[in-house]
Amino acid sequence: MNNCQQLQERRNTISQLFAAPVRLLAPMEGLTDPLMRQILTQIATDLGRPYDWSVSEFIRITQHVLPAHVFYKYVPELRHDAKTSSGTPIQVQLLGSDAQLMAENAAYAAELGAPAIDINFGCPAKTVNSHRGGSVLLDEPETMYQIISAVRGAVPDHIPVSAKIRLGYTDTSRMDDIRGAIASSGADWLTIHARTKTQGYKPPAYWDKIQSFNALDIPVIANGEIWNVEQAQNCMQQAATKHLMLGRGAVTRPDLVAQVDNHTENNADSLENTSTLLWQDLIAHQIKFLEGAAKNDIVLVGRYKQWLGMLTKGFSEAHTLWEEIKREKNKTVIIDALQASVRQ
Ligand SMILES: Cc1cc2nc3c(=O)[nH]c(=O)nc-3n(C[C@H](O)[C@H](O)[C@H](O)COP(=O)(O)O)c2cc1C
Repeated sequence: MNNCQQLQERRNTISQLFAAPVRLLAPMEGLTDPLMRQILTQIATDLGRPYDWSVSEFIRITQHVLPAHVFYKYVPELRHDAKTSSGTPIQVQLLGSDAQLMAENAAYAAELGAPAIDINFGCPAKTVNSHRGGSVLLDEPETMYQIISAVRGAVPDHIPVSAKIRLGYTDTSRMDDIRGAIASSGADWLTIHARTKTQGYKPPAYWDKIQSFNALDIPVIANGEIWNVEQAQNCMQQAATKHLMLGRGAVTRPDLVAQVDNHTENNADSLENTSTLLWQDLIAHQIKFLEGAAKNDIVLVGRYKQWLGMLTKGFSEAHTLWEEIKREKNKTVIIDALQASVRQ
């Protein structure tokens, strides 16, 4: 296939994909790692509403082209057709400020099988920002343009390149410039976390601010502070887009993605039986998580407690279990407690 055909293929794939509402599982460093991605995409698929994409945690690009093993560490799915075991494709997210280096790394990721590249302009971490990476670049729209267009130019034509942004760094005063930079960059779609870096992760999210980005000629995906169906609907209405990325809400209620679409399709009556995940259905997934690959059991148990802590916001049963195991270090004891929690 020549370049022209590849470009056409990409355009067709993207317009087909975004003809219907698109749902993305958010990249969350230390939270949606490969194990969590596997579990959450499996649940969504089992409930009949698979995510369209899951985005990897960011891979930081600083000095050179990373060796293959680093890409495989962050995105082991690259060894399996770049899909989770339930078949959800993974977008590889890169973070950095050197356009040329970002382009070279993106090209290498594509060579390793990345089906799409996302570029992070939202990370608020001090260490990242002090090295001119993540959200700090929202104050440098020209650099954003250079990075996105360099990455676009470096990866094969059939591979989509997207950007993930916030509304601004300290405030929203550069929004027009950011929009201008994205418009001419060649990005295939744009995800917007509807807060500035300064607003961090604190509610509310300013979904209505996303609207002006719909003037772009590419699909816009709204993100931030979606914990339930009502918020998802308000977000889509205020942002005037049907496309969503789900973050912490998807970890807290792994059935959120299915619930949102079940409801959106005016099937509210069947909500209970088709898309709601009961605690007992979630047990096997939690056990799978505890039996998953990790550096060691201490790390795994710590990560599981992080998840269980979030599940307490979504499931009353998680509270009881949390009280029971919060000081427990032994994985087997936790698995026993989990199994017993179904029988209670
Ligand atoms: C623990 C954590 C880690 C995150 N890591 C990333 C990341 O690696 N890349 C990225 O683009 N966004 C990252 N984010 C931001 C999320 O993708 C998302 O934009 C944000 O959490 C807002 O969505 P939510 O309110 O639905 O969680 C992270 C968020 C959290 C809470």
